[in-house]
Amino acid sequence: MQIVRTVAALRASIAALRADGGAVALVPTMGALHAGHLALVTEAKARAAHVVVSIFVNPTQFGPNEDFDAYPRREAADARLIDAAGVAILWAPTVDEMYHGGAATHVSVSGITAGLDGAARPGHFDGVATVVAKLFAQVRPDYALFGEKDYQQLAVIRRMAADLDTGVEVIGVPTQRDDDGLALSSRNAYLSDEERVAARALPRALGEAAATIGAGGDVAAALDVARQRLVAAGFDPVDYVAFCDAQTLEPMNRADRPGRLLAAARIGRTRLIDNLEVAIV
Ligand code: PAF
Repeated sequence: MQIVRTVAALRASIAALRADGGAVALVPTMGALHAGHLALVTEAKARAAHVVVSIFVNPTQFGPNEDFDAYPRREAADARLIDAAGVAILWAPTVDEMYHGGAATHVSVSGITAGLDGAARPGHFDGVATVVAKLFAQVRPDYALFGEKDYQQLAVIRRMAADLDTGVEVIGVPTQRDDDGLALSSRNAYLSDEERVAARALPRALGEAAATIGAGGDVAAALDVARQRLVAAGFDPVDYVAFCDAQTLEPMNRADRPGRLLAAARIGRTRLIDNLEVAIV
Protein backbone atom coordinates (compact mmCIF):
# COMPACT_ATOMS: atom_id res chain seq x y z
CA MET A 1 0.00 0.00 0.00
CA GLN A 2 1.29 3.44 -0.90
CA ILE A 3 0.96 6.27 1.63
CA VAL A 4 0.51 9.51 -0.27
CA ARG A 5 0.58 13.02 1.21
CA THR A 6 0.44 15.46 -1.72
CA VAL A 7 -2.20 15.98 -4.40
CA ALA A 8 0.50 15.71 -7.10
CA ALA A 9 1.66 12.31 -5.81
CA LEU A 10 -1.94 11.17 -5.44
CA ARG A 11 -2.72 12.06 -9.06
CA ALA A 12 0.33 10.06 -10.25
CA SER A 13 -0.61 7.03 -8.11
CA ILE A 14 -4.25 7.10 -9.26
CA ALA A 15 -3.14 7.41 -12.90
CA ALA A 16 -1.02 4.26 -12.43
CA LEU A 17 -4.03 2.39 -10.95
CA ARG A 18 -6.23 3.56 -13.82
CA ALA A 19 -3.63 2.38 -16.33
CA ASP A 20 -3.98 -1.08 -14.76
CA GLY A 21 -7.71 -1.00 -15.58
CA GLY A 22 -10.66 -1.50 -13.25
CA ALA A 23 -12.73 0.85 -11.14
CA VAL A 24 -11.51 2.97 -8.21
CA ALA A 25 -13.46 3.20 -4.94
CA LEU A 26 -12.84 5.79 -2.24
CA VAL A 27 -13.48 5.28 1.48
CA PRO A 28 -13.22 8.71 3.15
CA THR A 29 -12.42 8.57 6.89
CA MET A 30 -11.00 10.61 9.72
CA GLY A 31 -8.95 7.65 10.93
CA ALA A 32 -9.11 5.79 14.27
CA LEU A 33 -10.36 2.97 12.12
CA HIS A 34 -12.59 0.20 13.45
CA ALA A 35 -14.65 -2.70 12.08
CA GLY A 36 -17.20 -0.23 10.70
CA HIS A 37 -14.54 1.27 8.43
CA LEU A 38 -13.34 -2.20 7.45
CA ALA A 39 -16.90 -3.05 6.36
CA LEU A 40 -16.69 -0.02 4.03
CA VAL A 41 -13.39 -1.32 2.64
CA THR A 42 -14.89 -4.81 2.13
CA GLU A 43 -17.84 -3.31 0.25
CA ALA A 44 -15.46 -1.10 -1.77
CA LYS A 45 -13.40 -4.15 -2.76
CA ALA A 46 -16.54 -5.97 -3.88
CA ARG A 47 -17.21 -3.15 -6.35
CA ALA A 48 -13.82 -1.90 -7.50
CA ALA A 49 -10.41 -3.27 -8.42
CA HIS A 50 -8.63 -0.49 -6.51
CA VAL A 51 -9.51 0.97 -3.13
CA VAL A 52 -8.27 4.32 -1.83
CA VAL A 53 -8.80 5.19 1.85
CA SER A 54 -8.41 8.79 2.94
CA ILE A 55 -7.52 9.69 6.50
CA PHE A 56 -7.96 13.38 7.21
CA VAL A 57 -9.22 14.86 10.47
CA ASN A 58 -11.01 17.74 8.82
CA PRO A 59 -10.84 20.89 10.97
CA THR A 60 -13.61 22.69 9.09
CA GLN A 61 -16.32 20.27 10.21
CA PHE A 62 -15.61 20.75 13.94
CA GLY A 63 -17.25 23.60 15.86
CA PRO A 64 -15.15 25.85 18.12
CA ASN A 65 -16.07 23.86 21.27
CA GLU A 66 -15.85 20.43 19.67
CA ASP A 67 -13.22 17.69 19.88
CA PHE A 68 -10.90 18.50 16.94
CA ASP A 69 -7.74 18.49 19.11
CA ALA A 70 -8.79 15.42 21.11
CA TYR A 71 -9.99 13.44 18.07
CA PRO A 72 -8.07 10.11 18.13
CA ARG A 73 -5.16 10.01 15.66
CA ARG A 74 -3.40 6.68 15.11
CA GLU A 75 -2.22 6.67 11.53
CA ALA A 76 0.42 3.92 11.87
CA ALA A 77 -2.06 1.40 13.32
CA ASP A 78 -4.71 2.47 10.79
CA ALA A 79 -2.24 1.99 7.92
CA ARG A 80 -1.41 -1.55 9.08
CA LEU A 81 -5.10 -2.42 9.26
CA ILE A 82 -6.02 -1.22 5.77
CA ASP A 83 -2.82 -2.54 4.22
CA ALA A 84 -3.81 -6.00 5.48
CA ALA A 85 -7.31 -5.41 4.05
CA GLY A 86 -5.87 -4.93 0.56
CA VAL A 87 -6.17 -1.15 0.16
CA ALA A 88 -4.02 0.25 -2.68
CA ILE A 89 -3.51 3.85 -1.51
CA LEU A 90 -3.75 5.64 1.82
CA TRP A 91 -4.37 9.31 1.04
CA ALA A 92 -3.28 11.24 4.13
CA PRO A 93 -2.82 14.93 3.34
CA THR A 94 -1.84 17.59 5.87
CA VAL A 95 -4.26 20.44 6.63
CA ASP A 96 -2.05 22.76 4.51
CA GLU A 97 -2.07 20.38 1.56
CA MET A 98 -5.87 20.15 1.78
CA TYR A 99 -6.66 23.85 2.29
CA HIS A 100 -3.53 25.62 0.95
CA GLY A 101 -3.34 27.84 4.03
CA GLY A 102 -7.05 28.80 3.86
CA ALA A 103 -9.60 28.33 1.11
CA ALA A 104 -12.26 30.76 -0.11
CA THR A 105 -14.54 28.18 -1.73
CA HIS A 106 -17.13 26.32 0.31
CA VAL A 107 -19.77 23.78 -0.62
CA SER A 108 -23.06 24.26 1.21
CA VAL A 109 -26.02 21.92 0.77
CA SER A 110 -29.34 23.51 1.72
CA GLY A 111 -32.61 21.91 2.83
CA ILE A 112 -31.51 18.53 4.05
CA THR A 113 -29.00 20.18 6.42
CA ALA A 114 -31.62 22.36 8.14
CA GLY A 115 -32.52 20.05 11.04
CA LEU A 116 -30.99 17.35 13.26
CA ASP A 117 -27.15 17.62 13.31
CA GLY A 118 -27.36 20.56 10.90
CA ALA A 119 -29.21 22.51 13.60
CA ALA A 120 -27.20 21.12 16.53
CA ARG A 121 -23.79 21.68 14.88
CA PRO A 122 -23.91 24.90 12.81
CA GLY A 123 -21.47 24.82 9.89
CA HIS A 124 -20.69 21.12 10.34
CA PHE A 125 -22.20 19.95 7.06
CA ASP A 126 -20.58 22.79 5.09
CA GLY A 127 -17.25 21.44 6.34
CA VAL A 128 -18.21 17.87 5.43
CA ALA A 129 -19.63 18.73 1.98
CA THR A 130 -16.59 20.88 1.13
CA VAL A 131 -13.98 18.31 2.14
CA VAL A 132 -15.84 15.42 0.47
CA ALA A 133 -16.23 17.47 -2.74
CA LYS A 134 -12.46 18.08 -2.61
CA LEU A 135 -11.74 14.38 -1.97
CA PHE A 136 -13.91 13.51 -4.97
CA ALA A 137 -12.01 16.04 -7.12
CA GLN A 138 -8.63 14.76 -5.88
CA VAL A 139 -9.28 11.01 -6.21
CA ARG A 140 -11.94 11.04 -8.97
CA PRO A 141 -13.33 7.69 -7.81
CA ASP A 142 -16.08 5.68 -9.50
CA TYR A 143 -17.57 4.82 -6.11
CA ALA A 144 -17.44 6.36 -2.64
CA LEU A 145 -18.60 4.52 0.46
CA PHE A 146 -19.99 5.96 3.67
CA GLY A 147 -21.54 4.41 6.78
CA GLU A 148 -25.26 4.71 7.43
CA LYS A 149 -24.41 5.50 11.05
CA ASP A 150 -23.94 9.11 9.90
CA TYR A 151 -27.29 8.99 8.13
CA GLN A 152 -27.76 12.72 7.59
CA GLN A 153 -24.15 13.03 6.38
CA LEU A 154 -24.81 10.29 3.83
CA ALA A 155 -27.92 12.13 2.59
CA VAL A 156 -25.98 15.42 2.35
CA ILE A 157 -23.15 13.77 0.40
CA ARG A 158 -25.56 12.03 -1.98
CA ARG A 159 -27.18 15.40 -2.69
CA MET A 160 -23.85 17.19 -3.15
CA ALA A 161 -22.54 14.43 -5.46
CA ALA A 162 -25.66 14.62 -7.63
CA ASP A 163 -25.96 18.44 -7.64
CA LEU A 164 -22.31 18.92 -8.64
CA ASP A 165 -22.45 16.20 -11.33
CA THR A 166 -19.45 14.51 -9.75
CA GLY A 167 -20.18 11.21 -11.51
CA VAL A 168 -19.32 9.45 -8.25
CA GLU A 169 -21.73 6.71 -7.16
CA VAL A 170 -22.30 7.20 -3.43
CA ILE A 171 -22.94 3.96 -1.55
CA GLY A 172 -24.29 3.68 1.99
CA VAL A 173 -23.17 0.71 4.09
CA PRO A 174 -25.26 -0.51 7.06
CA THR A 175 -24.11 0.47 10.56
CA GLN A 176 -21.82 -2.03 12.28
CA ARG A 177 -22.63 -2.66 15.95
CA ASP A 178 -20.97 -4.20 18.98
CA ASP A 179 -22.62 -7.27 20.51
CA ASP A 180 -24.58 -5.06 22.92
CA GLY A 181 -26.01 -3.00 20.04
CA LEU A 182 -23.88 0.15 20.35
CA ALA A 183 -23.01 1.49 16.88
CA LEU A 184 -19.26 1.41 16.19
CA SER A 185 -17.76 4.89 16.23
CA SER A 186 -14.27 6.31 16.65
CA ARG A 187 -15.75 8.48 19.42
CA ASN A 188 -16.66 5.37 21.50
CA ALA A 189 -12.98 5.45 22.52
CA TYR A 190 -13.79 8.47 24.73
CA LEU A 191 -16.30 6.51 26.87
CA SER A 192 -15.40 5.39 30.39
CA ASP A 193 -16.42 1.82 31.32
CA GLU A 194 -19.50 3.17 33.10
CA GLU A 195 -20.48 5.41 30.19
CA ARG A 196 -19.94 2.54 27.78
CA VAL A 197 -22.53 0.47 29.69
CA ALA A 198 -24.97 3.39 29.93
CA ALA A 199 -24.54 4.10 26.19
CA ARG A 200 -26.39 0.87 25.35
CA ALA A 201 -29.56 2.80 26.18
CA LEU A 202 -29.21 4.66 22.87
CA PRO A 203 -29.74 1.73 20.45
CA ARG A 204 -32.25 0.21 22.87
CA ALA A 205 -34.37 3.36 23.08
CA LEU A 206 -34.29 3.71 19.30
CA GLY A 207 -35.17 0.03 18.83
CA GLU A 208 -38.17 0.31 21.14
CA ALA A 209 -39.41 3.49 19.46
CA ALA A 210 -38.91 1.99 15.99
CA ALA A 211 -41.00 -1.06 16.99
CA THR A 212 -43.78 1.14 18.45
CA ILE A 213 -43.92 3.46 15.44
CA GLY A 214 -43.63 0.62 12.92
CA ALA A 215 -46.60 -1.09 14.58
CA GLY A 216 -48.70 2.07 14.13
CA GLY A 217 -48.14 3.57 17.62
CA ASP A 218 -48.24 7.28 18.37
CA VAL A 219 -45.06 8.90 17.02
CA ALA A 220 -44.83 11.81 19.48
CA ALA A 221 -45.40 9.50 22.47
CA ALA A 222 -42.79 7.00 21.20
CA LEU A 223 -40.20 9.79 20.73
CA ASP A 224 -40.96 11.09 24.20
CA VAL A 225 -40.46 7.68 25.80
CA ALA A 226 -37.15 7.30 23.95
CA ARG A 227 -36.00 10.73 25.18
CA GLN A 228 -36.93 9.79 28.77
CA ARG A 229 -35.02 6.50 28.51
CA LEU A 230 -31.91 8.40 27.39
CA VAL A 231 -32.19 10.93 30.20
CA ALA A 232 -32.72 8.10 32.74
CA ALA A 233 -29.55 6.39 31.44
CA GLY A 234 -27.52 9.58 32.04
CA PHE A 235 -27.52 11.23 28.60
CA ASP A 236 -27.45 15.02 28.95
CA PRO A 237 -28.33 16.86 26.83
CA VAL A 238 -30.41 14.87 24.39
CA ASP A 239 -30.00 16.99 21.24
CA TYR A 240 -32.80 15.24 19.36
CA VAL A 241 -34.80 12.06 18.95
CA ALA A 242 -36.66 12.41 15.65
CA PHE A 243 -38.69 10.40 13.19
CA CYS A 244 -38.02 11.59 9.64
CA ASP A 245 -38.68 10.79 6.00
CA ALA A 246 -35.87 8.39 5.01
CA GLN A 247 -35.05 10.44 1.88
CA THR A 248 -35.71 14.09 2.68
CA LEU A 249 -35.23 13.89 6.47
CA GLU A 250 -38.34 16.00 6.96
CA PRO A 251 -40.08 15.23 10.29
CA MET A 252 -42.98 12.76 10.05
CA ASN A 253 -45.80 12.22 12.50
CA ARG A 254 -47.10 9.01 10.95
CA ALA A 255 -45.34 5.96 9.53
CA ASP A 256 -47.03 6.19 6.14
CA ARG A 257 -43.82 6.05 4.06
CA PRO A 258 -40.24 4.85 4.60
CA GLY A 259 -38.96 6.54 7.74
CA ARG A 260 -35.86 6.74 9.87
CA LEU A 261 -35.46 7.27 13.60
CA LEU A 262 -32.45 9.42 14.44
CA ALA A 263 -30.98 10.51 17.76
CA ALA A 264 -28.03 12.48 19.11
CA ALA A 265 -27.18 12.82 22.77
CA ARG A 266 -24.20 13.42 25.00
CA ILE A 267 -22.98 11.09 27.71
CA GLY A 268 -20.23 12.68 29.79
CA ARG A 269 -18.09 14.53 27.23
CA THR A 270 -18.98 12.23 24.35
CA ARG A 271 -21.66 13.04 21.81
CA LEU A 272 -23.13 9.90 20.25
CA ILE A 273 -25.44 9.61 17.26
CA ASP A 274 -27.41 6.65 15.99
CA ASN A 275 -30.32 5.87 13.68
CA LEU A 276 -32.59 2.99 12.70
CA GLU A 277 -34.83 2.19 9.80
CA VAL A 278 -38.49 1.93 10.82
CA ALA A 279 -39.98 -1.20 9.34
CA ILE A 280 -43.74 -0.88 8.92
CA VAL A 281 -45.51 -4.04 10.16
O1 PAF B 1 -17.56 10.47 8.46
C1 PAF B 1 -16.40 10.93 8.48
O2 PAF B 1 -15.44 10.28 8.94
C2 PAF B 1 -16.16 12.33 7.95
O3 PAF B 1 -17.23 13.17 8.22
C3 PAF B 1 -15.79 12.37 6.46
C4 PAF B 1 -16.93 11.86 5.60
C5 PAF B 1 -14.54 11.53 6.22
C6 PAF B 1 -15.50 13.81 6.02
O4 PAF B 1 -14.45 14.36 6.76
